[in-house]
Amino acid sequence: MSEQIDILILMGSDSDWEVMSNAAKILDEFGTAYEARVSSAHRTPERTLNLVRNAEERGCKVIIAGAGAAAHLAGVVAGHTLLPVIGIPLNATSLQGIDALLATVQMPAGIPVASMAIGKAGATNAALFALQILASANREVAEQLAAYRKNMTAKVESKDKRLQEHRRQ
Ligand code: RP5
Repeated sequence: MSEQIDILILMGSDSDWEVMSNAAKILDEFGTAYEARVSSAHRTPERTLNLVRNAEERGCKVIIAGAGAAAHLAGVVAGHTLLPVIGIPLNATSLQGIDALLATVQMPAGIPVASMAIGKAGATNAALFALQILASANREVAEQLAAYRKNMTAKVESKDKRLQEHRRQ
């Protein structure tokens, strides 16, 4: 694969896809060029590095990395690239994602990872955050993000309107 991509989504296992697909869904809505790949920091370290190098060569601007358990994927990837890395801690063990959250958020000084919330909200926000990074150099993406927020505002207003109508009955 050699097409240009703006964003690389990495996940430690295919069992992460159910949650990580929420990031992909946002990028699909925005028409972003991205690739989603499974690669583990522990089980396939060299493959992970190769995917990062390949993404850099293809013009990738942001990497999103989701992993559960002792989630080193985002941190390891961040240590191999100057691209901004957004980590999503996933709920994959009896610790319900707290393990992955601490592993992702507690990066030692020098190698930053932008850690999102555990799970679905984190995956959605990772995609939006990545788009906000792209938006600083891409007016079209900035306009799409503004429209996304406007739509969100309209939804809250219509939910409130429905609640008021319901209470009046
Ligand atoms: C992590 O271990 C993966 O990111 C996944 O969340 C978790 C469990 O992986 P599987 O055993 O389901 O492949 O590395």
